[in-house]
Amino acid sequence: MSNSSGFDYSGLKRVLKIGMSYRFLFVSVIIIAILSAAVSTWRPYLIKEAIDGYILNHDLPGLFLFIIFICFILLLEVLLSFLLIFLSNKMAQKVIRFLRVKLFNHIINFKLSYFDRTPNGILVTRSVSDIETIAEIFNNGILTLMVNTLQIILIISVMYYMNWMVASIIIVILPLMVVITKLFQRVLKKVYQAERNLTAKLNSFVQERLTGMTIVQLFNRQKKEFESFKLINAELRDAFLKTNVYFALLFPVVDVVSALAIGMLLWFGGLRTAVHGDVSVGDVIAFISYITMLTQPMRQIADRFNSIQRGLIGADRVFKILDQDETLPNKGTDRLENVRGNIEFKDVYFSYVKGNPVIKGLSFHSKPGQTIAIVGATGAGKSTVINLLSRFYDIDSGDILIDGKSIYSIELTNLRKHIAVVLQDVFLFNDTIYENIILGNTQISRETVISAAKEIGIHDFITSLPKGYDTEVNERGASLSVGQRQLISFLRAYVYNPQILVLDEATSSIDTASEILIQNATEKITEGRSSIVIAHRLSTIQQADQILVMEDGKVVESGTHHELIEKGGYYQKLYEVQFQSGDN
Ligand SMILES: Nc1ncnc2c1ncn2[C@@H]1O[C@H](COP(=O)(O)OP(=O)(O)OP(=O)(O)O)[C@@H](O)[C@H]1O
Ligand SMILES: [Mg+2]
Repeated sequence: MSNSSGFDYSGLKRVLKIGMSYRFLFVSVIIIAILSAAVSTWRPYLIKEAIDGYILNHDLPGLFLFIIFICFILLLEVLLSFLLIFLSNKMAQKVIRFLRVKLFNHIINFKLSYFDRTPNGILVTRSVSDIETIAEIFNNGILTLMVNTLQIILIISVMYYMNWMVASIIIVILPLMVVITKLFQRVLKKVYQAERNLTAKLNSFVQERLTGMTIVQLFNRQKKEFESFKLINAELRDAFLKTNVYFALLFPVVDVVSALAIGMLLWFGGLRTAVHGDVSVGDVIAFISYITMLTQPMRQIADRFNSIQRGLIGADRVFKILDQDETLPNKGTDRLENVRGNIEFKDVYFSYVKGNPVIKGLSFHSKPGQTIAIVGATGAGKSTVINLLSRFYDIDSGDILIDGKSIYSIELTNLRKHIAVVLQDVFLFNDTIYENIILGNTQISRETVISAAKEIGIHDFITSLPKGYDTEVNERGASLSVGQRQLISFLRAYVYNPQILVLDEATSSIDTASEILIQNATEKITEGRSSIVIAHRLSTIQQADQILVMEDGKVVESGTHHELIEKGGYYQKLYEVQFQSGDN
């Protein structure tokens, strides 16, 4: 965190260390920064030489040559300043690219419980805009600050070298400048922060309303939301105006101080020139240039500190996530090769939130090749079973075994390789249907996909879409119905040809055509494969080898459809309520 002087040195050190790892670039930038400061400070001195040495001595040929030399120096100054901006930007981009890749790779391996408690918006902000502010540390921050400071030191030294008495008079002005700079820095920091907070507020407001657009329109909230939006916007406008007012103030104030210094110089310098003759005309002109040059960096320094500050706040947030280890422990070393599909839950307890168990002593055993149907009321913990089997979450106690091996002794990627999951709420990427099926696995050919689609009976459905397999699904697959999305997800699972299949049937009602497609696909896909189906459809349930009835986190009954109906217990009641009264 930042200390009283406003700087977080450990964050700065870490960012610089990344910058330094691009050694050649880093060293070049530093050298160019030093050269640039030196050359720009040299120019006024050269003009003094031109006046005192050539113009006042009427040495025209010498003056001509000297002017060519000055032009050359000017060109050099331009070149250096170009290189400085270009290279420091290059370095900034290298650093943020490095950090962004690192951060994304870090987050993408976090366990799901982390995402349950961290809003997506925050992670997006961290990996996009917070990282961008880090660039400012290099772009406008440290390097320019370094050049500016170096310039100030050089200018003061040259001034003292030229005439210490005149220099001393002007230096009196310096503390005034420092005070003004400090003052503005403090005020600007505050208004900048307000500005940023309001921008974040506006962003999340807009994002949320866009995501919940159906709710907004359904409940006729447009007018109300619009009013709130206008309010935040007005606040943001005021914040920006405030920032601008301070900037508008800063420049004239600095100009006044600089004018004051020039006035003192003209009076005192002029006096020395006319009366004592120990200050030349060239000296006075060079001094005027130097004063203007001094105020320029002074004006900028307040802003530089803010840039660095902003960058460091971003860096601090990014490093905080990078320092978190939220990955699932992956200590297993065993590998499953040919899975037979013996799945066993042994007295499993689990809670998403500590102290609030959702699975309470769940036990069941499914034999190779069997299809197990899990039924139960909403919230009974059915989908949670999938989360546990694929190790999205770790259990509190008990054990889960595949072919007699605890899934905790199995290496995580190896475990997941053998399990294909069709989730209740299918997520599709903003890409073509084909890409959504192969998910970047180029070893799966188009022919494989098409013949798999034919096998499970959904080829006709896909080709009926505008561009067949190359149809773009919009964000989250919103352009497809829930049933259609599940069909695509079926195909995705099927081409991966897993040894264990887990299927969480969609709860929302599905049109009859999709219903039949899904039913056929389910039959085909579970054939000869160990499957766990969280069933909401009677047809699926009836075909299962074993039905587990779940209530409040455990199995309360199990058996085949007929056995359970005969028994006349919970299942029979569920059957009556869910499948006999309605149109299911
Ligand atoms: N990520 C989560 N964080 C906290 N609690 C959760 C989370 N996911 C589910 N729960 C809770 O766990 C319980 C079981 O949820 P689960 O999704 O397993 O129910 P389900 O049996 O699949 O219901 P449905 O038939 O509606 O799909 C519910 O009380 C739910 O509120
Ligand atoms: Mg569920």
